[in-house]
Amino acid sequence: MLLLEFVDGRPMLGVLAEGRLSRSERDDLLRRFAAAWSRRHRIALETGEPGFVQEHGTFQHVLVAGERLVTIDLEQLFRRAGNSLPLVSKEIAAYLRSLWKGVDAETYRRDLEALVDGYDTREILAAAVNEYHYNRGRLRRWMWALDRMRNARRGRGKYVALQRLEELLRERHPEAFSTARVRSRTSVDAASTRSRRAPASSG
Ligand SMILES: Nc1ncnc2c1ncn2[C@@H]1O[C@H](COP(=O)(O)OP(=O)(O)OP(=O)(O)O)[C@@H](O)[C@H]1O
Ligand SMILES: [Mg+2]
Repeated sequence: MLLLEFVDGRPMLGVLAEGRLSRSERDDLLRRFAAAWSRRHRIALETGEPGFVQEHGTFQHVLVAGERLVTIDLEQLFRRAGNSLPLVSKEIAAYLRSLWKGVDAETYRRDLEALVDGYDTREILAAAVNEYHYNRGRLRRWMWALDRMRNARRGRGKYVALQRLEELLRERHPEAFSTARVRSRTSVDAASTRSRRAPASSG
Protein backbone atom coordinates (compact mmCIF):
# COMPACT_ATOMS: atom_id res chain seq x y z
CA MET A 1 0.00 0.00 0.00
CA LEU A 2 1.25 3.44 -0.86
CA LEU A 3 0.27 6.28 1.42
CA LEU A 4 0.56 9.90 0.38
CA GLU A 5 0.18 12.82 2.70
CA PHE A 6 -0.52 16.35 1.57
CA VAL A 7 1.74 18.75 3.43
CA ASP A 8 0.13 22.12 3.86
CA GLY A 9 3.32 24.13 3.62
CA ARG A 10 5.54 26.24 1.41
CA PRO A 11 8.98 25.58 -0.05
CA MET A 12 11.69 26.87 2.26
CA LEU A 13 13.42 28.61 -0.65
CA GLY A 14 10.50 31.03 -0.93
CA VAL A 15 10.30 31.53 2.82
CA LEU A 16 13.97 32.49 2.88
CA ALA A 17 13.81 34.60 -0.28
CA GLU A 18 10.85 36.79 0.64
CA GLY A 19 12.91 38.26 3.46
CA ARG A 20 10.15 38.54 6.07
CA LEU A 21 12.02 36.63 8.75
CA SER A 22 14.09 38.50 11.30
CA ARG A 23 17.73 37.46 11.48
CA SER A 24 17.12 35.34 14.56
CA GLU A 25 14.06 33.64 13.02
CA ARG A 26 16.12 32.94 9.92
CA ASP A 27 18.94 31.49 12.04
CA ASP A 28 16.47 29.33 13.91
CA LEU A 29 14.90 27.96 10.72
CA LEU A 30 18.29 27.23 9.15
CA ARG A 31 19.56 25.55 12.33
CA ARG A 32 16.47 23.37 12.58
CA PHE A 33 16.87 22.42 8.96
CA ALA A 34 20.57 21.65 9.45
CA ALA A 35 19.90 19.34 12.40
CA ALA A 36 17.53 17.25 10.29
CA TRP A 37 19.85 17.50 7.28
CA SER A 38 22.74 16.15 9.33
CA ARG A 39 20.65 13.23 10.65
CA ARG A 40 19.53 12.32 7.15
CA HIS A 41 23.08 12.42 5.81
CA ARG A 42 24.33 10.27 8.67
CA ILE A 43 21.70 7.64 7.93
CA ALA A 44 22.53 7.76 4.21
CA LEU A 45 26.21 7.20 4.98
CA GLU A 46 25.63 4.49 7.57
CA THR A 47 23.22 2.50 5.45
CA GLY A 48 24.65 3.32 2.02
CA GLU A 49 21.09 3.89 0.83
CA PRO A 50 20.87 6.56 -1.92
CA GLY A 51 17.15 6.96 -1.18
CA PHE A 52 18.07 9.22 1.71
CA VAL A 53 19.83 11.69 -0.57
CA GLN A 54 18.17 14.08 -2.98
CA GLU A 55 19.27 14.09 -6.57
CA HIS A 56 18.31 17.75 -6.85
CA GLY A 57 19.31 19.33 -3.57
CA THR A 58 17.57 22.66 -3.16
CA PHE A 59 15.54 24.48 -0.51
CA GLN A 60 12.72 24.26 -3.03
CA HIS A 61 12.48 20.61 -1.98
CA VAL A 62 11.94 21.35 1.71
CA LEU A 63 8.44 22.28 2.81
CA VAL A 64 7.91 24.50 5.82
CA ALA A 65 4.62 23.63 7.51
CA GLY A 66 4.47 25.47 10.80
CA GLU A 67 7.11 23.82 12.98
CA ARG A 68 7.51 20.91 10.59
CA LEU A 69 10.14 20.73 7.88
CA VAL A 70 9.40 18.09 5.28
CA THR A 71 11.93 16.92 2.71
CA ILE A 72 10.38 15.94 -0.61
CA ASP A 73 11.56 14.63 -3.95
CA LEU A 74 13.85 11.82 -2.80
CA GLU A 75 14.21 10.47 -6.31
CA GLN A 76 17.14 8.13 -5.82
CA LEU A 77 15.21 5.39 -4.02
CA PHE A 78 15.82 2.92 -6.82
CA ARG A 79 19.53 3.37 -7.13
CA ARG A 80 21.83 0.64 -5.93
CA ALA A 81 23.17 0.92 -2.39
CA GLY A 82 26.85 1.73 -2.02
CA ASN A 83 29.05 4.60 -1.02
CA SER A 84 26.73 7.54 -0.39
CA LEU A 85 29.45 10.09 0.20
CA PRO A 86 29.66 11.38 -3.40
CA LEU A 87 25.85 11.82 -3.43
CA VAL A 88 25.81 13.54 -0.04
CA SER A 89 28.65 15.79 -1.11
CA LYS A 90 26.88 16.82 -4.30
CA GLU A 91 23.63 17.39 -2.42
CA ILE A 92 25.32 19.64 0.13
CA ALA A 93 26.94 21.69 -2.63
CA ALA A 94 23.61 22.04 -4.43
CA TYR A 95 21.80 23.19 -1.27
CA LEU A 96 24.45 25.78 -0.57
CA ARG A 97 24.17 27.08 -4.09
CA SER A 98 20.37 27.30 -3.89
CA LEU A 99 20.65 29.26 -0.65
CA TRP A 100 22.77 31.86 -2.39
CA LYS A 101 20.06 33.02 -4.77
CA GLY A 102 18.97 36.56 -4.08
CA VAL A 103 20.98 37.16 -0.91
CA ASP A 104 23.93 39.48 -0.33
CA ALA A 105 27.36 38.28 0.78
CA GLU A 106 26.82 39.21 4.42
CA THR A 107 23.50 37.34 4.64
CA TYR A 108 25.03 34.33 2.92
CA ARG A 109 27.85 34.19 5.41
CA ARG A 110 25.42 34.36 8.35
CA ASP A 111 23.24 31.70 6.72
CA LEU A 112 26.24 29.40 6.36
CA GLU A 113 27.13 29.97 10.00
CA ALA A 114 23.62 29.01 11.08
CA LEU A 115 23.73 25.86 8.94
CA VAL A 116 27.12 24.80 10.29
CA ASP A 117 25.93 25.56 13.83
CA GLY A 118 22.92 23.33 13.50
CA TYR A 119 24.65 20.51 11.62
CA ASP A 120 25.51 17.97 14.33
CA THR A 121 28.14 15.84 12.58
CA ARG A 122 30.51 18.43 11.12
CA GLU A 123 32.90 15.68 10.02
CA ILE A 124 30.35 14.92 7.32
CA LEU A 125 30.58 18.50 6.05
CA ALA A 126 34.38 18.26 6.02
CA ALA A 127 34.26 14.89 4.29
CA ALA A 128 31.85 16.34 1.72
CA VAL A 129 34.26 19.21 1.03
CA ASN A 130 37.13 16.76 0.64
CA GLU A 131 35.11 14.52 -1.61
CA TYR A 132 33.91 17.34 -3.84
CA HIS A 133 37.17 19.21 -4.15
CA TYR A 134 39.85 16.59 -3.97
CA ASN A 135 38.60 13.07 -4.45
CA ARG A 136 37.62 12.71 -8.07
CA GLY A 137 38.24 10.42 -10.95
CA ARG A 138 39.70 11.85 -14.14
CA LEU A 139 36.38 12.36 -15.94
CA ARG A 140 34.75 13.95 -12.90
CA ARG A 141 37.78 16.17 -12.32
CA TRP A 142 37.46 17.37 -15.89
CA MET A 143 33.71 18.04 -15.54
CA TRP A 144 34.33 19.79 -12.26
CA ALA A 145 37.01 22.00 -13.83
CA LEU A 146 34.49 23.00 -16.48
CA ASP A 147 31.91 23.74 -13.79
CA ARG A 148 34.46 25.79 -11.90
CA MET A 149 35.24 27.86 -15.01
CA ARG A 150 31.56 28.54 -15.64
CA ASN A 151 30.89 29.30 -12.01
CA ALA A 152 33.92 31.50 -11.69
CA ARG A 153 32.24 33.80 -14.16
CA ARG A 154 28.92 33.68 -12.37
CA GLY A 155 30.58 33.60 -8.98
CA ARG A 156 27.87 31.68 -7.17
CA GLY A 157 28.08 28.07 -8.23
CA LYS A 158 28.38 24.83 -6.31
CA TYR A 159 32.16 24.93 -6.31
CA VAL A 160 32.36 28.43 -4.88
CA ALA A 161 29.64 27.64 -2.33
CA LEU A 162 31.63 24.68 -1.05
CA GLN A 163 34.74 26.84 -0.91
CA ARG A 164 32.87 29.25 1.37
CA LEU A 165 31.81 26.32 3.52
CA GLU A 166 35.39 25.06 3.67
CA GLU A 167 36.69 28.48 4.74
CA LEU A 168 34.11 28.72 7.49
CA LEU A 169 34.77 25.18 8.72
CA ARG A 170 38.53 25.67 8.76
CA GLU A 171 38.08 28.89 10.69
CA ARG A 172 35.55 27.68 13.25
CA HIS A 173 35.81 23.91 13.35
CA PRO A 174 39.22 22.85 12.04
CA GLU A 175 38.99 19.62 14.05
CA ALA A 176 36.27 18.44 11.67
CA PHE A 177 38.92 17.97 8.98
CA SER A 178 41.29 15.97 11.13
CA THR A 179 38.57 13.45 11.90
CA ALA A 180 36.83 13.60 8.53
CA ARG A 181 37.25 9.97 7.66
CA VAL A 182 33.58 9.52 7.05
CA ARG A 183 32.90 6.58 4.82
CA SER A 184 29.63 5.02 4.06
CA ARG A 185 29.29 1.26 4.08
CA THR A 186 31.82 0.12 1.58
CA SER A 187 32.52 -2.97 -0.50
CA VAL A 188 31.63 -5.73 1.97
CA ASP A 189 28.38 -4.26 3.22
CA ALA A 190 27.43 -2.87 -0.15
CA ALA A 191 27.94 -6.28 -1.77
CA SER A 192 25.59 -7.97 0.69
CA THR A 193 23.04 -5.23 0.19
CA ARG A 194 23.33 -5.41 -3.57
CA SER A 195 22.25 -9.03 -3.70
CA ARG A 196 18.91 -8.03 -2.20
CA ARG A 197 18.31 -5.15 -4.57
CA ALA A 198 17.66 -4.71 -8.23
CA PRO A 199 20.44 -3.08 -10.24
CA ALA A 200 20.35 0.67 -10.61
CA SER A 201 18.04 1.91 -13.31
CA SER A 202 18.65 5.60 -13.09
CA GLY A 203 21.88 7.47 -13.40
N1 LIG B 1 2.61 19.85 -0.52
C1 LIG B 1 3.04 18.60 -0.73
N2 LIG B 1 2.68 17.61 0.11
C2 LIG B 1 3.10 16.37 -0.09
N3 LIG B 1 3.91 15.98 -1.06
C3 LIG B 1 4.32 16.90 -1.94
C4 LIG B 1 3.92 18.28 -1.81
N4 LIG B 1 4.48 18.97 -2.83
C5 LIG B 1 5.19 18.09 -3.53
N5 LIG B 1 5.10 16.84 -3.00
C6 LIG B 1 5.72 15.60 -3.47
O1 LIG B 1 7.06 15.83 -3.88
C7 LIG B 1 7.23 15.45 -5.24
C8 LIG B 1 8.18 16.42 -5.91
O2 LIG B 1 7.62 17.70 -5.92
P1 LIG B 1 8.25 18.84 -6.82
O3 LIG B 1 7.48 20.08 -6.54
O4 LIG B 1 9.71 18.87 -6.62
O5 LIG B 1 7.88 18.33 -8.27
P2 LIG B 1 8.83 17.89 -9.44
O6 LIG B 1 7.96 17.15 -10.40
O7 LIG B 1 10.02 17.20 -8.91
O8 LIG B 1 9.18 19.28 -10.07
P3 LIG B 1 10.61 19.96 -10.25
O9 LIG B 1 11.22 19.30 -11.43
O10 LIG B 1 10.29 21.40 -10.44
O11 LIG B 1 11.40 19.70 -8.99
C9 LIG B 1 5.83 15.46 -5.82
O12 LIG B 1 5.73 14.54 -6.86
C10 LIG B 1 4.97 15.06 -4.66
O13 LIG B 1 4.96 13.66 -4.54
MG1 LIG C 1 11.39 18.30 -7.75
